[in-house]
Order: sequence, then C-alpha cells, then structure tokens
Amino acid sequence: MNSNSKLWGGRFSASTDSIMEAFSSSVDFDRRLFSVDIDGSIAHARMLTATHILTEEECTAIIVGLTAIREEIISGDFIWSAAHEDVHMNIEAALTERVGEAGKKLHTARSRNDQVATDIRLYLRETLDGIEDRLNHLLGAIIDLAEREADTLMPGFTHMQVAQPVTFGHHLLAWFEMLIRDRERFLDCRRRLNISPLGSAALAGTSFPIDRKMTATELGFDGITENSLDAVSDRDFAIEFGSAGALLMIHLSRISEELVLWSTDRFGFIDLSDAFCTGSSIMPQKKNPDVVELIRGKSGRVVGNLNTLLVLMKGQPLAYNRDNQEDKEPLFDTADTLNASLDVMGAMVPEISVNREQMREAASQGFATATDLADYLVRKGVPFRDAHEMVGQAVRFCIDEGLDLAELSLSHFHAFSSVIEEDVYGVLTLEGSVAAKDHVGGTAPKQVRSAIERARTRLQ
Ligand code: ARG
Repeated sequence: MNSNSKLWGGRFSASTDSIMEAFSSSVDFDRRLFSVDIDGSIAHARMLTATHILTEEECTAIIVGLTAIREEIISGDFIWSAAHEDVHMNIEAALTERVGEAGKKLHTARSRNDQVATDIRLYLRETLDGIEDRLNHLLGAIIDLAEREADTLMPGFTHMQVAQPVTFGHHLLAWFEMLIRDRERFLDCRRRLNISPLGSAALAGTSFPIDRKMTATELGFDGITENSLDAVSDRDFAIEFGSAGALLMIHLSRISEELVLWSTDRFGFIDLSDAFCTGSSIMPQKKNPDVVELIRGKSGRVVGNLNTLLVLMKGQPLAYNRDNQEDKEPLFDTADTLNASLDVMGAMVPEISVNREQMREAASQGFATATDLADYLVRKGVPFRDAHEMVGQAVRFCIDEGLDLAELSLSHFHAFSSVIEEDVYGVLTLEGSVAAKDHVGGTAPKQVRSAIERARTRLQ
C-alpha cells in the first residue's frame, strides 16, 4: 500500500514501514468494538444531519452502509485489514467503498480520539450490565443456599484454627456481603463512565455547530463530558472497572479456596457436583476441584490487568497519546474472565451438597464453646479477664485428660470456679452457643433468617 491509500496519508510522502504497520495495528483485538463503533457512527451521522452538516441522503446512505457492514462482520464475511490500522478505519474505509462520498463525510467534526473514548465507554457499559446480571444470579444462589443451611452448624475459623461455632447460613451470608459490595462498586463505576465524550474531537472540540446532547441521548448516555482534553485522554473509568473487577476476583478466589478446602477428604464439609470437577490422568480415584482452582488462579490475570491499566496511564501528559491503545487487551481480558468466572460460580453454588454431620462433628472439636463458658462466668459476676484464665485452665485440663468441656462434671468445674452450676451445660452445646449470638450481624439461626429477608430485598 502506498502512502496515499491510508486514510491519513495526505501529508506523507513515503509509505508505512511494514514492521511499523504490524506494530501499530490494533485491529486484531479492537475489532471487538465493531458494534458499539457502528452505533456511535450512526448517532454521529444523525446529529450531523440534524445540524445540517450532512444532507438527509448522505445520512441515509451512511446508515444503510453501516448497517450492512455490521451484518457482514457478524456473518464473518468482513475482511479486516491491518493496513487500516484499527476497527474505526476498517469500518470507515469499508463504508466509503460501499457508499462513496457520503462515507468520506462521516468523520466530519469527529476524531478517532473521541470516537475510541466513546466506544470503550459503550463497550464497558454493556459489559457492566452483563456482570450485574451474573452477580445477581450468583447472589440469589448464595441466599438460597444460606436459607437451606440456616441451622447447619460448622466451626468458624480464625488463623484456620477452630474458633467458635457458627451456622453455615451465616458463613454464606458473609460471601453475600463481599459480593454485593462488588456489585455496588460496578454500579458506581457505571454512573461515572456513562457520560459522552463525543464532540471532543481530537482534543480541542470542533468548529462545526454540533449538538453533543443529541448524540449523548441517542447513545443512552446520562450526560456529556465537560472538558475535551480530559475526555479524549483519561481512562480512569477503565481503571475503575479494572479495580472493581480485581476486587471481585479476589473475593471469588477466597470463596474458591474455601470450596477447595471443604471438599477435601480431611474436611469433608461439602461435595462439589461431578459436573464441576475433573479426574486425574494417572490417579483413578481422584476427583479434583479444578474449576474453583482456576477461578482462584484467574484472579492473578485480572489483578495484573489492573496493574497494566494503571501503569499505562501513569505520567501521560494531556491530551490523547497512542499509549491508550494498549488499554483494550487488559480490559477485554478482564471482562472475559469476570464473565466466565461468574458463570461457573453461579452454576456451581446451587449444586453444592452439604455434609451436615461432618460439619457438626468438626465444630464439636477444638473447644469451640470455650468463649461461651467464659461469657457464662461473666454473667455470674466474674470479671472477663479472670473468666478467660479459668476457662484456659479448664481447657488445659481437658487436653491432658482427653475430654471435651461438655464432658466435665460439675465437681471438675468447681476446681476452676465455684460459680458454675448445672445450667452451664446449656451454653456448652453448639446449638446454645450459636443461638446466643442473637443480634443483628450475629450467627444465631433466627438472625440469619432475618438477614436473609433483608438480603433478598437488597438484591432487588
Ligand atoms: N486505535 C486507537 C486507540 O485505540 C484509536 C485512536 C488513534 N488516534 C490517533 N491519533 N492515532 O487509541
């Protein structure tokens, strides 16, 4: 291709070096923006017509042409060319080939700089809506499971050591809280990114009498950007998306880790459905939780993508710089990874089968009700520090004797404290322990049930 065949070839006398062409072309990845790019161009053409910059005939030719191109791309017949650099110029060149002069006029009062900023915002808005749907589905599945397991007893852990009994429903609602905050972050991100940069042109705005509000409304934006230099250059909205995505993946990795642990023979708390596990090529007995391990692993690339986007932006002077072309691949990869991970998690959670006996058994080991005994002593007038010490001694005694706290006789107890009476056995049971945590945010089944009610409302 000689210099003049480039859409921007006018001021060039030598043709593009082929190494340079391959290096700078983004069409292999940014072609994913084709549909939002065409939406943006149609809105722009309509606005140029309403403001008498284009004629009705030109506008119709452009819309018909772009619509045909969209279909050609969807059907796979469109021929992409690296020589046309990116998605924007591929489509514009194809349009001009189809409709002639009118195609050449489409780029009036516009630059690829505001065009690409518009495309990414539209693409991310669509992506965010899909993520919200998937998150809602997963959150609903978690609530359903929590409702089923509101009374199920399990050990709560700190430092991965048995700490105090909790209900499984309560544990699941902790996941709910993590993920509903992620949903809020995405919604907040959507609010800031759904603003139209179109009309900023290359960096300074345009000398044509454009109607920016019209294109914004056509494209479903909530408003227009205030400053053209900022609008074509900053990608902070993409970084916010990457950041909310990274946090979501970190949460999913924590959930995955628990599912991996719980499904081991040693824990035996849950069974993951065969549909989400794989076998070993050498060990016939194995059923491995590869899918959740993959989610845990994929959090790495999403965190990496956030880092890429941040460093990409660092030190960029106003206004547009070509560096920003590098935002696409990390963004697409984050979007794909979030979608796939949420799809898998959302399908897997409802299929989890719970081994209640095994969970209960684990909760009854490790002196999980020791704190309840200390609280009991406090209610009998013993200062908490002294109670802590007495219970510590009782636990020591139990370890030496191979007994559980609930197996101690009253006379055993009296060796540690004289205030202990028959009613102590009530607080040493797992049921008594969880039922006593009876306040908002506590693990009592009654509280878990009302938290589930509130969660359902918040999900709406
Ligand atoms: N492909 C470019 C990008 O993704 C489009 C904008 C190019 N603008 C320019 N002046 N070279 O950012």
